[in-house]
Amino acid sequence: AETRTYRIAAIPADGIGPEVIAAGLQALEALAKRDGKFSFDVTHFDWGSDRYKKTGALMPEDGPEQLKAFDAIFFGAVGAPDVPDHITLWGLRLPICQGFDQYANVRPTKILPGIQSPLEGVGPGDLDWVIVRENSEGEYSGHGGRAHRGLPEEVGTEVAIFTRVGVTRIMRYAFKLAQSRPRKFLTVVTKSNAQRHGMVMWDEIAAEVSKEFPDVTWDKMLVDAMTVRMVKNPQSLDTIVATNLHADILSDLAGALAGSLGVAPTGNIDPERRFPSMFEPIHGSAFDITGKGIANPVATFWTAAQMLEHLGEGDAAKRLMTAVEQVCADGVMTPDVGGTANTQQVTDAVCEAIRGAN
Ligand code: NAI
Ligand code: MG
Repeated sequence: AETRTYRIAAIPADGIGPEVIAAGLQALEALAKRDGKFSFDVTHFDWGSDRYKKTGALMPEDGPEQLKAFDAIFFGAVGAPDVPDHITLWGLRLPICQGFDQYANVRPTKILPGIQSPLEGVGPGDLDWVIVRENSEGEYSGHGGRAHRGLPEEVGTEVAIFTRVGVTRIMRYAFKLAQSRPRKFLTVVTKSNAQRHGMVMWDEIAAEVSKEFPDVTWDKMLVDAMTVRMVKNPQSLDTIVATNLHADILSDLAGALAGSLGVAPTGNIDPERRFPSMFEPIHGSAFDITGKGIANPVATFWTAAQMLEHLGEGDAAKRLMTAVEQVCADGVMTPDVGGTANTQQVTDAVCEAIRGAN
């Protein structure tokens, strides 16, 4: 029988990144063994803050070029206590996201069995969302500047850029994703009452694109009211689309409502597949627990499932998530979600569940 081989670029980088990526690769290996029809060819890149301290750069100059040949990028976390965060972020992660035009940042959130939401009476099934974050423009386009530095008349501007191309493509992505989910329901987050240019265009384009998806129901929420709805009525939401800034904030809230940062995954996706997409846990390098062996690997398993889905291995993705949910339900969890297990014990339990699954 023929075997499909996927070329994966693993960039574990800093802090707990190497610990969770190692766990993720073990789960992927177990899935490949269990399935027998696909395999992974993993190349490890030692890019990150240690490399920066030795050579002055987090990755080689032709780093993005080296990544182009891969089917996907599996990323840990970047950031070190003794290197400024804007250097680590702009030296590794952002050049990949922006250079590969990964314009859809997809952030699924749900309450896994056995994990406690801070919301009273809200359990698995009550909160099952996917937030689609515009990942290439908006408030984080880097457009702006400062003048008269240090003087009393100093000014700083930070201009939000919305383009018809950029808004249309993220709306299309979000409507399509909503259409693929059972509820076929999309909430478009906006702030078009106060921001009467870019955000009004955002709303208009949402209405235009909605006509291409007559079977998708959609509504519109102002971002401030959206925070209330997320807390008070989580059952009323399903797929959500928001700007770069709005989704950045809303997805942290979503992660907290689902129980922990240690379980939240994300995919930075180029839907046109011109370039490899990048999959990573949402959390950072977590200096406070680095090397202790207790990092929660669930966010990394979940993002590995996103990666499998992107590669067309939907059955393997489901098998992985079923295994993760079973292990959480059995109470094999790390301390951040109230358990006593370490990273390796959770990983072993997930691999065991993968082997045992039908
Ligand atoms: P963080 O996400 O690293 O940690 C915040 C808190 O959550 C810590 O108490 C940590 O122990 C806990 N935590 C995070 N992930 C966990 C996991 N898997 N299991 C158990 N506990 C977990 O955020 P923080 O402390 O603000 O940033 C630390 C460094 O990471 C900084 O240099 C920051 O710039 C960088 N960072 C990098 C990101 C990336 O590479 N995508 C994202 C966020 C932060
Ligand atoms: Mg954020």
